[in-house]
Amino acid sequence: MLLILPLIVMTKQVYINIKELVQVRPPSLTPLTGIEFQTVPSISNSFLVIEDNTVIDFGNMDSFDSALYHAHDLIDMSGRFVLPAFCDSHTHAVFARPRETEFVDKIKGLSYQEIAAKGGGILNSARHVQALSEDELFEISLPRVQALIAGGTGALEIKSGYGLTLSDELKMLRVINRIKAHLDIPIKTTFLAAHALPEEYKSNKQGFMQAVVHQWIPNVISEGLADYIDLFCETGYFDAVDIELIAQAIQGSHLKLKVHVNQFTAIGGIEEAVKNNALSVDHLEVLDVKDIVALKAGKTIATLLPACSFYLNIPFSPARDLINEGIPIALASDFNPGSSPTSNLFFVWSLACIKMKLTPEEAYNSLTINAAFAMGVEATHGSIFKGYKGKLIVTNPAPSLAFFPYAFATNHINNLIN
Ligand code: NIG
Ligand code: FE
Repeated sequence: MLLILPLIVMTKQVYINIKELVQVRPPSLTPLTGIEFQTVPSISNSFLVIEDNTVIDFGNMDSFDSALYHAHDLIDMSGRFVLPAFCDSHTHAVFARPRETEFVDKIKGLSYQEIAAKGGGILNSARHVQALSEDELFEISLPRVQALIAGGTGALEIKSGYGLTLSDELKMLRVINRIKAHLDIPIKTTFLAAHALPEEYKSNKQGFMQAVVHQWIPNVISEGLADYIDLFCETGYFDAVDIELIAQAIQGSHLKLKVHVNQFTAIGGIEEAVKNNALSVDHLEVLDVKDIVALKAGKTIATLLPACSFYLNIPFSPARDLINEGIPIALASDFNPGSSPTSNLFFVWSLACIKMKLTPEEAYNSLTINAAFAMGVEATHGSIFKGYKGKLIVTNPAPSLAFFPYAFATNHINNLIN
């Protein structure tokens, strides 16, 4: 009698002759600094076995046993690199519409601050977000996030901050959570509580901060809508006292602090953020000695956003000063309609090398392992190891890792695995 067994279909892909399998190391326990930060461990002429979207084996082709696999599962990768996808730990990817008209104002000579003063900037984005329903904002934002995943991003943080009223901030956070439920990469949600003063609080920052502390934050916490909280610490926006107020308001909750700080001026925000155990401080285009001393003594990651410097024509963060002091750095896109209208992390890789003098390896570590730490996904993303379930980038043929940041504004992606 014929016995019919249930058929379990395991999907297996066996990639062979990979020119280089990049960033092969177990999940790191700490962000990379020093010697570890300088190198990207890789296996040349390698194979990689994926089963049910999980890396189950890899190694040098010399140790590849073809007898173990069906010929039709083998995929030849001659000349191509395979890299773990980037982690983007700082984006504002949910917004209503781009601001290319301000781009033209900028070309004509207006500064970021002048554009903001004439009703552009964050308040402009807020008006458009406020005019949309939750469904509309979701429908507009989802394809934007799908496109950045196709560009090589495998883990993502998204901030609110263009709502500027409690209900519109909650709307943004719900949209981010819906995007997260829709997609197969980890997405972290940040409540950007104090981004700019809403019109009705124009000359009443204290009143606004009272609302944030006593109403907005408790609401976000009780609805469980965010992983992180953020604010814009900058002259004319918010300051170190506001960092302290927010840090106090989240005590006892699961929210962790991130801060936009030192983009244009150094006003003591980094010291305050480090004191309050911020996971990351982001921007850091302008740094004074006190900031470096504070970062050196703490555990906060310095997240640098060179695409913002490029677009706004402002200084690039003095990354080498941070690296020389052993401070862990991450790189992110800051994708947003006002100061960084790109989510392309290959471009950020190029800018970090060309403008901030990071080596290709240092910059890649900053875009993967260290960025994973800056968004709390370090146990699962940022490097290739047995059990890795994240996305992998298959590149077009290239001579070496340095080719990717060198050939800037070039499409390097052949396809994605997973
Ligand atoms: O990270 N610096 C503050 N926030 C954003 C820009 C926001 C905007 O202009 O829309 C940033 O650069
Ligand atoms: Fe930002």
